[in-house]
This record gives sequence, C-alpha cells and structure tokens, in this order.
Amino acid sequence: MTDHAPASGNGLPGKPTAASRTTLSHIMSGNETNLLGTVHGGVIMKLVDDAAGAVAGRHSGGPAVTASMDEMVFLEPVRVGDLVHVKAQVNWTGRSSMEVGVRVLAERWNEAVPATHVGSAYLVFAAVDSDGRPRTVPPVLPETEQDERRHQEAQIRRTHRLASRRAIKELRARKQRERSMPESTG
Ligand SMILES: CC(C)(COP(=O)(O)OP(=O)(O)OC[C@H]1O[C@@H](n2cnc3c(N)ncnc32)[C@H](O)[C@@H]1OP(=O)(O)O)[C@@H](O)C(=O)NCCC(=O)NCCS
Repeated sequence: MTDHAPASGNGLPGKPTAASRTTLSHIMSGNETNLLGTVHGGVIMKLVDDAAGAVAGRHSGGPAVTASMDEMVFLEPVRVGDLVHVKAQVNWTGRSSMEVGVRVLAERWNEAVPATHVGSAYLVFAAVDSDGRPRTVPPVLPETEQDERRHQEAQIRRTHRLASRRAIKELRARKQRERSMPESTG
C-alpha cells in the first residue's frame, strides 16, 4: 500500500503502519548510568520519546508533540555496553492524535546472541500546526494481524484515558464547588 490509499474517517488518505515504523539504535556508555551502575531509566525514556516522536512526525507529515506517555514498563536492567534498539510504530490514530507503541530491546554490542526485550511504552502524540494547534492526521492502516491487535488494544487504552481524564475533571469541579459553597451553620 502507498500514501495514496483510499481515504477513510477524516477524509485524509490512510497510511500503512510500515510507512512510519522506525528503529532507533544506541550503544550505552558510562555517562548514562544510575547509582547502581546500570543505565538510568530516564535515558531509556528519552530514547523512547525520540523514536516515538520520529514515528509520529513521519506518519502525520509534520510536527507532533508528546501529549502523554503511559504504561512505561522496565522489564530488565540495561547495562553499559548494551546496544539498545528502540522500535516504534503508530498503533492507532484519532482526529489529531496518534498512539505510538514502543518496544525496547537490548543486546551486548559485541556478542551475537538474541536481543532481550527490556521495556515497552505507549505514548500519545498530537500533530500540531505552526501555531501549536492540533491538526488532522491521516488514519493509520494496520497491515498485519499483529498491527490489527495493537490497533484494537490501543482503542481500549484510548477509551480508558478519556474516561479517566473526564472522571478527574468532574471530581475537581465537584471539589471546587464544595469549597466555594458557604459552610453550613448546622
Ligand atoms: C497536546 C496538546 C497539543 C493538546 O492540545 P489541546 O488544545 O488540549 O487539544 P485537544 O483537546 O483537541 O487534543 C488534541 C488531541 O490530543 C489528545 N490529547 C490531548 N491531551 C491528551 C492526553 N493527556 N492524553 C492523551 N491524549 C491527549 C486529544 O484526545 C485529542 O485527540 P483527537 O484529536 O485524536 O481526538 C497541548 O496540550 C500541548 O501542546 N501540550 C504540550 C505538548 C508538549 O510540549 N510536549 C512536550 C513535553 S515536554
């Protein structure tokens, strides 16, 4: 499939998942460690954000900003001398937002052994125009069975994110109203 696939949803032509899928690779060095001597989680999170940002920019054809990052899971420590591969793809698209799924793998830089899955994350990016306002993104077209499963799971996470944001907003509004009500004299 190409960028000129049939339009769906918001009228923009869809783009297949593979069109923007990206891998960012980096060898970990000694200045990226925490006090335990393994690689700092924040260093991995930066790589995750960088890879996801590249994918979101490629898919949306322009600037995109991180709106949220959730479910960052660290499964195994990353060590100095590990060659880390950060694989990212668009799982789901809305009107102006995209969920990007990221998988982090690590292998010894000088050993031919299979890479270990060391972490995963889901990020939401919003495509923005030159004034920083959200702009419409092309719908993602899942290609494989795995892409389709990720698309469906992303839709579930989207529903939960919206529900949780709405519930928190309502709770804060209620608390605000309670605070501004005159105290009962009993
Ligand atoms: C993200 C941002 C563009 C959203 O702008 P907004 O005026 O709230 O616009 P909207 O409410 O229309 O949100 C735009 C889209 O992002 C999604 N979104 C916004 N905040 C979100 C959040 N916290 N989690 C998940 N999705 C979010 C919305 O659901 C919407 O998706 P849709 O168009 O696909 O339905 C704006 O909040 C922003 O610029 N944030 C700062 C981003 C940044 O600087 N990132 C780097 C961090 S250092």
